[in-house]
Amino acid sequence: GIPPLDQCLNLFDFEVVAKTVLKPTAWAYYSSGADDEVTMRENNSAFGRIWFRPRILRDVANIDYSTSLLGNKSSMPVYITATALGKLGHPDGEKNLTVAAGKEGLIQMIPTLASCSFDEIVDARVNDSQVQFFQLYVNSNRKITEKLIRKAEDAGVKGLFVTVDAPQLGRREKDMRMKFDDTGSNVQNSNKDNVDRSQGAARAISSFIDPSLSWDDLNWLKSVTRMPIVLKGVQTWEDAVRAAELGLAGVVLSNHGGRQLDFSRSGIEVLGEVVEALKARNLFPNPMFQIFVDGGIRRASDVLKAVAMGATAVGIGRPFLYAYSAYGSDGVVHAIRLLKAEMEMNMRLLGAPTLKDVVPEMVDTRALSTH
Ligand code: FNR
Repeated sequence: GIPPLDQCLNLFDFEVVAKTVLKPTAWAYYSSGADDEVTMRENNSAFGRIWFRPRILRDVANIDYSTSLLGNKSSMPVYITATALGKLGHPDGEKNLTVAAGKEGLIQMIPTLASCSFDEIVDARVNDSQVQFFQLYVNSNRKITEKLIRKAEDAGVKGLFVTVDAPQLGRREKDMRMKFDDTGSNVQNSNKDNVDRSQGAARAISSFIDPSLSWDDLNWLKSVTRMPIVLKGVQTWEDAVRAAELGLAGVVLSNHGGRQLDFSRSGIEVLGEVVEALKARNLFPNPMFQIFVDGGIRRASDVLKAVAMGATAVGIGRPFLYAYSAYGSDGVVHAIRLLKAEMEMNMRLLGAPTLKDVVPEMVDTRALSTH
């Protein structure tokens, strides 16, 4: 059997339990990174190079970590990011995340390549005010993509996150050593025919993604939706500035959980240069252009480091997958509550009663960056 849920004391603990319950194919797909996994490890270690500068003797009796993402309330500066193939881990797949997000007031990003149908995920909302975003892989057949976007908009989705770091899926060799067995995983919005199952899950599901996607396509995207558009997978200040100048709603500084280009830098490292460049052009701070970060966020201290450096919120992927693989939606609720308790304590010890008080001076990033 598995340990009772209350023995999971932090987000790392879910990974240990999940490894014992997941099928080897599912574990390989969820846990793998690209090539030598240098970037995947760096996502975790980069946070270890940032130190706090806490302030004392401030009134920290009441702590408030609520915030707003693209104009939508969130109980914490954290959202559940898109991860494909949710049913590899649990028969209810992504619905586990929807239910937990709704109960705890977080926003869930629905993946294009979910295992549950889009309608199932929308119908699993726990109340009418629950907010969801949609992660988009642009199909070579633009008509299919337009349909998906319209469907999301009709369902009240509040933000479109276009993945721009995956014109080809990276080599995740752990995953490639497995044959993709899609019984039960039931991937949505992918090519159903002519898939090669011999090279793992990622290869089998991704052949429809359009590698010719370019900046020129963003005008088309803007013309087919009123949803705010955010680019997911930005890795340089140059591209972040271009996104801001185009009037997009934001960027996610992300290397796709270390699953795409190995030796890309961590999102938290990129954040420093992005904020600096936007500031120099009077594009930051700007409530109409928000910066998100994902990759390796496991503790509230990681969340607060990103917020201090200028991020509006951060995305978390694998820990929530592991939490529901082991414990269903209760596991995800527990993971979110652990993070909330850490947020409260960390903000109190930092001397920051609200997120506005989490300022750049609260972090020492001298060891972070090489520039
Ligand atoms: C992902 N990620 C991802 N991103 C995306 O835009 N579309 C997708 O379909 C997927 N699928 C996916 C599957 C799995 C199993 C993982 C682990 C990740 C990337 C994801 O949105 C996010 O960038 C990372 O997961 C963040 O890193 P952590 O929190 O997992 O370390």
